[in-house]
Amino acid sequence: MNMWLVTGGAGFIGSNIVEELIKMGEKVRIIDNFSAGKIENLSDFQDKIEIIKGDIRNYDDIRKAAKDATYVLHQAAMRSVPKSVDDPRGANDNNITGTLNVLMASKENGVKKLVYASSSSVYGDCKVFPQKESLCPSPISPYAVSKLAAEHYCVMFSKTFGLPTTSLRYFNVFGPKQPPESMYSAVIPKFIELALNKKPIEVHWDGKQTRDFTYVKNVVDANIMAALSSKADGKVYNIACQSTISLLDIIGLLEKFLGYKLERKFMPKRAGDVRKTWADISLIKKELGYKPKISFEEGLLKTLEWFKNNRG
Ligand SMILES: NC(=O)c1ccc[n+]([C@@H]2O[C@H](COP(=O)([O-])OP(=O)(O)OC[C@H]3O[C@@H](n4cnc5c(N)ncnc54)[C@H](O)[C@@H]3O)[C@@H](O)[C@H]2O)c1
Repeated sequence: MNMWLVTGGAGFIGSNIVEELIKMGEKVRIIDNFSAGKIENLSDFQDKIEIIKGDIRNYDDIRKAAKDATYVLHQAAMRSVPKSVDDPRGANDNNITGTLNVLMASKENGVKKLVYASSSSVYGDCKVFPQKESLCPSPISPYAVSKLAAEHYCVMFSKTFGLPTTSLRYFNVFGPKQPPESMYSAVIPKFIELALNKKPIEVHWDGKQTRDFTYVKNVVDANIMAALSSKADGKVYNIACQSTISLLDIIGLLEKFLGYKLERKFMPKRAGDVRKTWADISLIKKELGYKPKISFEEGLLKTLEWFKNNRG
């Protein structure tokens, strides 16, 4: 039977991937150092998976975790742009050295395919839209540099070390289990939490910056599809919904769903923030037949419902 190793499996995206693999009847192991991930994210299927508390910066940990793995879905990382500005070395260690360790351990254990969670942040403050994989990346934060360097490692391992890899550049993922509570949290869970508590919504910059927000199920599907397709070997693909949603649009939609007005509190722009992300996903559509199934609005409603039911 195939065994799937999900690094960062207790995190937001990782735990959503694990949930889907369990629904498919697959054998799953995770490795997570629980720096950001939570055991509660796995509570519905904890007895069906193997959990390794370990750190991808430590080669022995990841080597043990990769033993007998057929597929590796590599999600573990220090995730936030502002956090990486505060701690560039942490981003480097977790995201570059950590990924190199995951690649080496996968190679050593004869893994069939590794899928890497890259990021739209590699495009930087690019002024060419929609963003295609062929554009020259120009990262503007330590996080983006680290995600790009690790992506290069993945492509190189496919070419030089014979370990098939696919890198997926996720565009602003959102959905159930995304944490709202940290100063480094992503915008949608933060907005939802404030909106549900009828508190002013803190908007950095003017709120007109736009993102190609992507519901997490679309990212989960892309990971599984890329792992199972040899056509994706050595490739880099954008994963997005091809929508441009501003922060003010999100607040407007939340007002529509909740049926009450929300106060906007404007704050300064954060270092490393870009004005716009907007993906071209024609490459993965053409090569793998991928299609995002859940639209932004449907995904936002599902996420709001999850927060209503799961956070007190
Ligand atoms: N959320 C997004 O919008 C987004 C966008 C682009 C790319 N990504 C990438 O997707 C991946 C998952 O992101 P997420 O939003 O689920 O973040 P997350 O922080 O919820 O998940 C990351 C997980 O990795 C774990 N982790 C961190 N460092 C580790 C280490 N050294 N060893 C072992 N485990 C470690 C954390 O505890 C956490 O559970 C990351 O690689 C991130 O860079 C996310």
